[in-house]
Formats: sequence, C-alpha cells, structure tokens
Amino acid sequence: MEKYYITTPIYYPSGKFHIGTAYTTILADTTKRYKKLRGYDAYFLTGLDEHGQKIETVAKENGKTPQEHVDFMAEKTIELWKRMNIQYDDFIRTTEPRHEKIVQEIFDRLMNQGDIYMGEYEGWYCMPCETYFTETQLVDGKCPDCGREVKKMKEESYFFNMKKYQKRLEEFYEKNPDFIEPISRKNELFNNFIKPGIEDLCVSRTSFDWGIKVKANPKHVIYVWLDALTNYITALGYLSEDDSKFKKYWPADLQIVGKDIIRFHGIYWPIFLMALDLPIPKKIYAHGFISIRDGKMSKSKGNIIYPEQMIDRYGLDATKYYLLREFPFDQDMTVTPENFVNRYNGDLANDLGNLLNRTIGMINKYFEGTVDTSNIKETEFDEVLKKLALQKAKEAEECLDNLHYSNALEKIWQIVSASNKYIDDTKPWVLFKSEDEQDKRLLASVMANLVENLRIVAVLLQPFMEETSNKIFAQLNIDLRDWDSSHEYIANRGTIKVGKDVEPLFVRLEVEKELEYLENIIKGKK
Ligand code: ME8
Ligand code: MG
Repeated sequence: MEKYYITTPIYYPSGKFHIGTAYTTILADTTKRYKKLRGYDAYFLTGLDEHGQKIETVAKENGKTPQEHVDFMAEKTIELWKRMNIQYDDFIRTTEPRHEKIVQEIFDRLMNQGDIYMGEYEGWYCMPCETYFTETQLVDGKCPDCGREVKKMKEESYFFNMKKYQKRLEEFYEKNPDFIEPISRKNELFNNFIKPGIEDLCVSRTSFDWGIKVKANPKHVIYVWLDALTNYITALGYLSEDDSKFKKYWPADLQIVGKDIIRFHGIYWPIFLMALDLPIPKKIYAHGFISIRDGKMSKSKGNIIYPEQMIDRYGLDATKYYLLREFPFDQDMTVTPENFVNRYNGDLANDLGNLLNRTIGMINKYFEGTVDTSNIKETEFDEVLKKLALQKAKEAEECLDNLHYSNALEKIWQIVSASNKYIDDTKPWVLFKSEDEQDKRLLASVMANLVENLRIVAVLLQPFMEETSNKIFAQLNIDLRDWDSSHEYIANRGTIKVGKDVEPLFVRLEVEKELEYLENIIKGKK
C-alpha cells in the first residue's frame, strides 16, 4: 500500500478553539478519509504546541501551573476532536518526553555543525507582560496586549543561520513549483520574504522558562518554532529507538496550515530539514482565514463561533458541509447567518434530503418498496442522466485530488440537482397512473436511476459526511460503497428493496428563529 502522511499544525492550547482553527483539522480529516477510500495507507498527525510565554501567562491567569493548564487543554482538545469524529492516528504534545528529548538532540546537532550561533536579540519589551514585541507589533508605540509603555531591551539568544540556506531554498522553490499551494500564496511568500533575503531566526530565549531547555546552556529555552515544527518528525520517532514510522511515512505528503503560518512552514521548516539532511515535504497547503460578517473573529469583539455551538444545534455533517462548501480554495471565507441557513435549507434539506425522501416514498407508493429491474425500459431522459452522474463523479474525484473541496461538493450537488430535475422531466406520477404496461417499465427505470444516483452521491459523500452517507445507504438498503463504484452505473441491479421508514436527513430550519440564534452567537450573546 502506498503511504500518505498528512498533518495539521499543532495548536496553541491558550483557549477554546473556534471554527477557524477547527477548519484546518476538518480539511485534514476529510483528506485522510478520502485517501483511505482510495486505498492509501493514510497516516494523520495532529497535536498541541504547549510551550512558550503565552501559555505560561494564560496558565497564571487561570491560577494553574503551565503543566496543569496544558493537561486540561489536551483533554478538552481530544474531547472536541472526538465530538467532531476526527480520525487522527497520532496526537503529539510538545511536552511529551518523546518530543522534548529529540528536540534537544536536534538543537545540539545544529549547534555543533555551526547552523546555530550565539547572538543578541533586541526588541521592545513589556515588563508587566514579560513579552517582547517587534516594532510593527506595537500599537501607538505601546504594548499591543496591555497598552502600557514598552522598553527597548536586549538579551543573549541563539540564532539559526538562515542566510546560509538562502540559495538552496530558492533552488528548491524553482525545482518544486507545486511545493506550496495555492500558487498565489506561494508567489507572495517567494516575492516578499524569500527573494528580498531571509533573516536569521531567533531560536532561544532567557526571558521565560516554560520550554525545552538547551542542554549545553540550560538558562536558554528553545524558542517556539524550532520546538514546534519538529513535532512532525518527532511524532514519527525520528532519532528514537523505534524510527520505523519515520522511515515509512517521512517526508509528509501534505501539510495543511492556515495562511498566517505559511512563512514558518514555507521557509524555516524546509531549511531546518535541509540542515538535518532530511527530505522536504511534498506539499504544503495554506488555506485562508474565516471571519465573521463584521470582521475578524476576536475575543475582545466577542464575535467568535465555536464548533460546538454549530454542531450541537445543526449536527456535525451540516456544520462541516457549510465550511467545506463555502470556503474557496485560495481565498478567505466570511461566515454569515443567512449563508448558513440558505445552505442548510437549500442544499441539505431541500435538494439532497427531499431527493432521498421522494425516491424512497415513490418506491414505497408505486412498487410497495420493491422494484424489479430485470425488465426495465429506459425513458428518453435516462441516457443523459447516467452520463452526467458518471461525469460529475469523475470531476468530483479530480477536485478531491487537487484539494478543491468546495468544488468537489459542487459537483456532487450537480448530480443531486440533475436527479431532482429528472423527476420533474419523467413525471413518475403520470407514469404511475397510466394503464400501459410499457409505462410501468419506464417507471421502474426512473426509480432504478434515482436509486443509483443517490448511491453514487452517498459514495462520494463518504469523506465529507460520514453519517449522512451511512443514512442514505441504509435507507436505500444498498451497501456498495467502495470508491471505484462511483465510476460504474448499475441501474439494473436485480431487485431493489428500499427501507420503509423515510426519516428525513435534514429537517428544514425555521429561518427567522435560526437567524436569531446565529446572530446572538456572533454578537457574543448566549
Ligand atoms: O499557529 N480562520 O497554532 P494556532 C482559519 N501553534 N484558520 C485559522 C483561523 C481563522 N480565523 N485562526 C487560526 C499555531 N486558524 C501554531 C502552529 S505548527 C508547527 C505550530 C488556524 O492554534 C491557523 O492558521 O494559533 C492554524 O492552522 C490553526 O488554526 C491553529 O492555530
Ligand atoms: Mg495562531
């Protein structure tokens, strides 16, 4: 089996995760499920980035030690991923010995081979917050967090000599034009940050404590990115006694990140790997940012949506569908209550839900639940419908191969729409009333085609909406769900015997009521 290694970033456990952060994980989960369906040995890593000053500060605010705080957050995180049915294979925490020990070794090695040197870090320091800021982070020359005076200060720090790798990185980008997607973000990164000259990176601090100590000089803790990025290989057992996973899965096939951290994954990460003589990931995909109608989600504005708020009320599948469907591949996404309610009522309840409902209902009414397809007669619309279904299934697959999830769902919904139109065109209720034996055979063909279209839709929905897909298979009473079966059209499947109960997939939302509920969430009211 061919391997496929996929990662999310490790998340800062500083507070509850909102739908923006959850989106990265949903993307990775969808990809893992898809690759598995395609027969890959897919391995999916996620985890937590537990060190650093911010965590130290938040823990103090909560009256906890940093370790207590991250332990609590790790539990909450795992709970959330369970609730979201995220199928990760490993969950790494950077406070685990399997990570800390190897990071220290990596640091030693990079220092010994001359990539890391001792220098001086200079920045604007806020005493009460115990935090450095760069000139551009300051707000009106003051601390962006507490608004108080900052002082220019220096401390001794280790630096990684990025400049040394400038040429090699440029060459790597030229040879691997698809390394970063989307291309627009690749170009931005290359033109604005690589071309003008890469700055050396500060990789240690002495001004706080909560981190992995430099073995040779323990008053220094290893500063975030060298600690954080290496999780992708320490989790696989790199440099450990059992490095079989590392040998099997590295380099990563796909690393998904949000656009805010593409600089670290597109520049420092490949350079660290070059310094360690390790292969570079095949692809990094940087998705855009979610904002709420009135702007960026932020705690101070209170306009945050948490995944639980959507999932508890609308279900996991509807929540995922909305995000995956509305988020364009290479742009940002704006969440509005109107959009959500439209998608839910339009796409889910109406288009898909009704299609299944009508199909099962008609088969029960016209054929008492059992259609014999051995003697069907095609209507004039059948050929077109079959062609379209197979064509769109193929296109959906191509979209999935290119990480174009929104487009993939669009293609799937074109099968749904075509099926609904097919009902209007063939008018089964007229065929049913006819005394002509031919019409009975035409009617059987219509039912068989609707069932087959729904089956293909259910196959294609598996990576996106497991529960919905399962419900469709159950109601159709069919279990042919392997991926390749979305490329064959089997209308003539002997006897179709559908389920009796027509439980709706999605219950139509009351528009006014739900708009109000969602408005209250994004205004920070309960
Ligand atoms: O960055 N919309 O962790 P994190 C979309 N620890 N995505 C968003 C978002 C939004 N509004 N806000 C955040 C870190 N994200 C580091 C990573 S990796 C070695 C270290 C995404 O918890 C963000 O881009 O701040 C990232 O992919 C994920 O949420 C976690 O962010
Ligand atoms: Mg962040």
